[in-house]
Amino acid sequence: MPKRETFQDLVLEPRKDDQEMWRWLYTELRSAIIDGRLKSGARLPSTRNLAAQYGFARGTVVAAFQQLQAEGYVSSEVSAGTFVLPAPGWEMTSPAKQKPSRQAISTATIAKRTQSLLKTTFLKPASHSVGKAFRSYEPAIDLFPVEQWARTAARVYRKAPRSLYGQGDAGGYPPLRRAIAEYVGQSRGVRCSAEQVIVTSGAQQALDLSARVLLDPGDEVWMEDPGYPGAARAFQSAGACVIPIPVDRDGMDVGRAIKSCPTARLVYVTPANQFPLGIVMSAERRVELLSWARRVGAWIIEDEYDAEYRYSGKPIASLHSLDRSGSVIYVGTFTKMLFNALRIGFIVVPERLVEAFRVARSFMDRHAPTLDQAVLTEFINEGHFGRHVRRMRQVYSDRSQLLAEEANRRLSGLLDVEHAQSGMCTVAWIKTRITEMALKRRADQLGLEVSPLSSFVIKYEQKPALFLGFAGCNENEIKRGVSVLEAILSH
Ligand SMILES: Cc1ncc(COP(=O)(O)O)c(C=O)c1O
Repeated sequence: MPKRETFQDLVLEPRKDDQEMWRWLYTELRSAIIDGRLKSGARLPSTRNLAAQYGFARGTVVAAFQQLQAEGYVSSEVSAGTFVLPAPGWEMTSPAKQKPSRQAISTATIAKRTQSLLKTTFLKPASHSVGKAFRSYEPAIDLFPVEQWARTAARVYRKAPRSLYGQGDAGGYPPLRRAIAEYVGQSRGVRCSAEQVIVTSGAQQALDLSARVLLDPGDEVWMEDPGYPGAARAFQSAGACVIPIPVDRDGMDVGRAIKSCPTARLVYVTPANQFPLGIVMSAERRVELLSWARRVGAWIIEDEYDAEYRYSGKPIASLHSLDRSGSVIYVGTFTKMLFNALRIGFIVVPERLVEAFRVARSFMDRHAPTLDQAVLTEFINEGHFGRHVRRMRQVYSDRSQLLAEEANRRLSGLLDVEHAQSGMCTVAWIKTRITEMALKRRADQLGLEVSPLSSFVIKYEQKPALFLGFAGCNENEIKRGVSVLEAILSH
């Protein structure tokens, strides 16, 4: 049984006047064990400390401990202390441990906006393993240079001035903001100063922050359909009205959007690699979108969540690089380029918005953790970041090709898997009569992670397809994934 220290100041319910002291203490400790506040292996405060804390004789505490020991809740070890014993099942009997159903939550007195988001949002579980076919949201975590990261982190933590352990800048750690400004300038053609970069907790917080700063309840937001649900949820949380705009071979259909909703306040786009279809927005559409935004004074959020990964053709410049009126807000993230748990992303905002974004950022969680930002800064400045991204570009390109080849060989006529030329995921069109949901259910049972394309649709239906991630899966896992799909589809 692993042993754990407890917080020595244990808070207990007040004693009733007619209750014996030792019995009260025994009852309170027993409830704390049963409802899981004191877990198996936890050390109880010493009899001396408890007696001093509550102002009674030590013999009273000893009597309570003896009763708990006699009933099998704790065991005492000479000179080590008194520990809670394992008792599977106790915690289940506690009302505090019973999880309320989603239904119960949604009818409770929470805001209507959150109630409706609860009905349509499914949380991704925490990863217990990495590299599973065809998980769409993880990069190749098994290939991340953990040893290098640990060395950099150890050095930064040891050498950082004490001031880095104090309050940080709401906009982010200045050297990281400089490193990001330099990186997006060179790699994505984003011209900005370090002051215009705000460090966030991933791209998701950048979207949430933008919604808070730029949108009032009822404002209209154009969203690509199909599109990234996390963006729609962020805008809806701010009370905005999401207007789905269909996507064709050139990306978001801007002409149609202007006709149906000419006064939108904000547009959300993924022009380098449309999520989830992988389309590149054409030059004409980019110009059309920028000139409309300039005319009506709308904001454009350009989400380049995985723009580093392009496997053929020339690099595609960002929309931001074409913007001359300061309408584009650029979002990027290190969670896809390095590893998910890092939770560091960034947003580049026009100068006139910097102060509003810094203030809103400080309301959310003050600032991103400074020491993690300092580690990332060193990792970038020493060249490890650039090397890792270049290496992953080759790895992901190989994985995309392997998936396409395997699918061609084994799934022909069953599933038409697109050979992705960018990003970390691809779309696989279902060619048999099986429904997306039936295919997903069978895949789940056989240990595959696939997402139905319909889960990204807002209004405009798509042909049945699956969204498959390939970047995080090694060769064997891709082959296993394809053979599982073959087994399901050829039945
Ligand atoms: C299109 C898109 N934008 C933003 C995000 C959020 O990224 P992060 O994990 O950095 O918050 C994701 C995550 O999967 C995404 O797919």
